[in-house]
Parts: sequence; C-alpha cells; structure tokens
Amino acid sequence: MRKNFPHFLITLVVTVIILRSVFYLQTFNGPTAPTAAKEVVVRQVVPNNTYYPVVKCVVNASARHFPHFKGEPQNMKDFLLYRHCKSFTLIQDSPMKCGGANGSKDVFLLLAIKTAPANYERREAIRKTWGNETSYKGLKVKLIFLSGVSRSRNEAKRMLQLLEAESLTYKDILQWDFEDTFYNLTLKQVLFHKWMDLRCPGAQFVFNGDDDVFVNPLNVVTYLSGLEINGLKKHLFVGSLNIGMPPVRDKWSKYYVPEEMFPGDHFAPYCGGGGIIMSGFTANAISRESEHIPLFPIDDAYLGMCLERAGLSPDNHEGMRTFGISMPKVVDSFDPCYYRDMLMVHRFIPYEMLIMWKALQLTKPQCKTSVDQVSKSAKP
Ligand SMILES: *[C@@H]1O[C@H](CO)[C@@H](O)[C@H](O)[C@H]1NC(C)=O
Ligand SMILES: *[C@@H]1O[C@H](CO)[C@@H](O)[C@H](O)[C@H]1NC(C)=O
Ligand SMILES: *[C@@H]1O[C@H](CO)[C@@H](O)[C@H](O)[C@H]1NC(C)=O
Ligand SMILES: *[C@@H]1O[C@H](CO)[C@@H](O)[C@H](O)[C@H]1NC(C)=O
Ligand SMILES: *[C@@H]1O[C@H](CO)[C@@H](O)[C@H](O)[C@H]1NC(C)=O
Repeated sequence: MRKNFPHFLITLVVTVIILRSVFYLQTFNGPTAPTAAKEVVVRQVVPNNTYYPVVKCVVNASARHFPHFKGEPQNMKDFLLYRHCKSFTLIQDSPMKCGGANGSKDVFLLLAIKTAPANYERREAIRKTWGNETSYKGLKVKLIFLSGVSRSRNEAKRMLQLLEAESLTYKDILQWDFEDTFYNLTLKQVLFHKWMDLRCPGAQFVFNGDDDVFVNPLNVVTYLSGLEINGLKKHLFVGSLNIGMPPVRDKWSKYYVPEEMFPGDHFAPYCGGGGIIMSGFTANAISRESEHIPLFPIDDAYLGMCLERAGLSPDNHEGMRTFGISMPKVVDSFDPCYYRDMLMVHRFIPYEMLIMWKALQLTKPQCKTSVDQVSKSAKP
C-alpha cells in the first residue's frame, strides 16, 4: 500500500494536467457551432433536481413555413422555432431578494442586471462597487443578475456550477434554462417581469441594464426621490430615447429583423436597452402587455411595443448615456468629474468600474461646476 502511494500520486498529477489542458482547449475553441439536430432535439442541461420543476418546450415545426425560412440566418431560425416558448425552469432563484413579496414594499430601487453566465468578473466588479446592496438617503437598494445558460454544452455545465456557487454566496442570481443569446434577451426581460410580479411586487423603481454599464446609485436615488411619486401608482420609463428607429434589414446585422416579422418602417418609441429606469407600476404594466405581444428579437424595441399597447410613453433622460460620453480629445474622458452627475454610462470594463467607484468617493471638492453642462436632469 505504502509503496504504491507515489505511483498513485504521479497518476493523479498527470490526470489533473491532462484534464486541465482539455479544459483550456475547450475554453479557447470558443462556442461550438449550432448543429442541425438542435432544431428537433429539446436540449436538457438541467440536472433532474427535484427542487424545481423541469419545464420543456417543444420546437414549433410549422415555423419552417415562415416565408423564406431557409434563407434566414441560423439565429433567426432558432428564434422562429422557439418563439412561442415563454416558460422556462428557474435554475437559480433568489426568492427572498426583496424580503418576500410582502417585504418588498421596503425596496426603493431594484438593480436588475442582464448578464451572460461567463461574465463573472463583471458581476464581481458590480457587487464590489455600484451594485453594493445598501441604502442611499435611507432608501434601500437591491441587486439581482439575470442570466440564461451558455449555448455551448461544455461551457453550460461549468457555468451551471459557477452560477450555483455565486448564488450560494451572494443570493443575487436568477438563472433560467434557456440559451443566453442576443435574440433571447426579450425572453429574459419578460421572465424577469414575471419574477418581479411574484417575488418583488412592492419595489418602487427598477434600474434595468447591461453588466457593462457604470451606475451612480446615489444620483439615481436622488433623481427618483426628487420626483416625489409613488412608483407603484405612477408611470415612469426613462433612458436614452429613440424615436422613429427603422428596423435593420441586413441579414448579417446583430439587429436584423425580417420584413415578414415586422413590416413597419419604424419601431414604437423606446429607450436603448443598455440602461433603463422604470417604476414598479410600469414594470407590472409591461408584464401584463407581454402576454399579448409575441416575443420579438430586439428586446428594447419590444419594451417600446409593450408601452405603446399600455398607452404609456418612454421618456428621455440626459443622464442616461447608453453610448458613453463623447467629449473633446483634450479632456480626459475618464475624469470622474464627468461622471459625478450622470445616472449611468455605458461601456465600462471591470477594472474601470473599480477605479471610477474609488474616484467618485474622493473627488467631490475638486470638481468644477462646468460638469453641469455635461448633464441636465429631465423630469417627466
Ligand atoms: C426526476 O427524479 C424523480 C425522483 O428521483 C423521478 O420521480 C422523476 O421521474 C424524474 N424526472 C425526470 C424527468 O426524469
Ligand atoms: C408556429 O409557427 C407558425 C409559422 O410561423 C405560426 O403561425 C404559429 O403561430 C406558431 N405556433 C405557435 C404555437 O407559436
Ligand atoms: C402577505 O400579506 C398578505 C395580505 O396582507 C397575507 O395574506 C399573507 O399571508 C402575507 N404573506 C406572508 C408570507 O407573510
Ligand atoms: C457596502 O456598503 C456598506 C455601507 O452601507 C459598506 O460598509 C460596505 O463596505 C460596502 N461594501 C463594499 C463591497 O463596498
Ligand atoms: C432561445 O432559447 C431556447 C431554449 O434554450 C433555444 O431553444 C433557442 O434556440 C434560443 N433562441 C435563440 C434565438 O437563440
């Protein structure tokens, strides 16, 4: 037994090395190409865990009769085949995020951040900076991440473990069993509204955005409390407003929408999906309207359709910079003074969030008043 021990150790080390290299090879091979079989086989990455019901959705075979189906890009084909599926297993839940449905009336602002499973560093940076669950001016802020599962089977398995671990540690993950792809973002949005109806119906306001935005929570809370409205009774939907946006007809584009799906020449007014602030009232209205509007490949345009059907309109807010800040080259675009009065700015990588967050805690006295010209608050 003793003699064999070194052999066992060597075997173990060699095995670990081999497994690790396989792991890395898989990591760098990128996502695997979608196979034709995917269209007919209902994939199940979810283990048979009796804690949550397993929901399966069967492909819509007659979607192949959609005009020019064969000529559509693969992601559009996937969208059409599974467009009717609106019910997915919640693999990771955070039922007490808002203190339960009854307790949720104490939540002032819920930060609901769309994230792909692999974006672990972004989530960590957000938790450590602007997503810290704390109170501003005595008003409670909560953080939740919205995720699906990775498209590649190998990655999906590892990511299930990652999100499970994060969920155990932070209790801030919602993960549904659908493929986390661009055209499935509307699905993610709708499922979030359904979750909110159930678990957090009392929250006054929601910031809904991407995991690469930088939010100034104090400014958001200051702006919202300054409106002096009851978020559960009044409509609010602000962001970077788009009016008369035409659908993209180029098949290679990420934003492509076939004419047969949307014949109109422009979308209903909507706010860019990078970051939106809405009231609990409006979040609930969207949830209701979504039941009458088929899923659409572009998530922010879909929200515009829901608002239109509800007879509500989106509004612009100058402090919501979904395209970042453009300014003269001579100015340091990373100057914290330019971000002090913003509610949100798009495109931050994790280390930038950390630096900016630190800088914002320190720079109050040194900023000149010229910052006011960068941002004006728009009140609806
Ligand atoms: C999952 O496991 C339970 C108990 O082990 C079993 O009764 C059930 O049939 C299984 N479900 C599926 C879909 O395999
Ligand atoms: C399946 O696809 C067809 C063609 O696009 C569509 O008319 C039909 O409503 C879809 N069925 C379901 C259940 O969504
Ligand atoms: C929540 O409040 C409702 C109505 O006040 C009550 O019926 C219900 O039991 C409460 N639920 C919990 C979990 O406290
Ligand atoms: C979060 O905010 C609290 C104050 O409410 C502070 O004590 C804590 O250090 C903060 N956490 C992080 C990670 O910044
Ligand atoms: C959306 O998710 C479903 C369920 O995982 C999947 O079958 C479908 O292909 C996905 N749609 C797109 C457009 O990726």
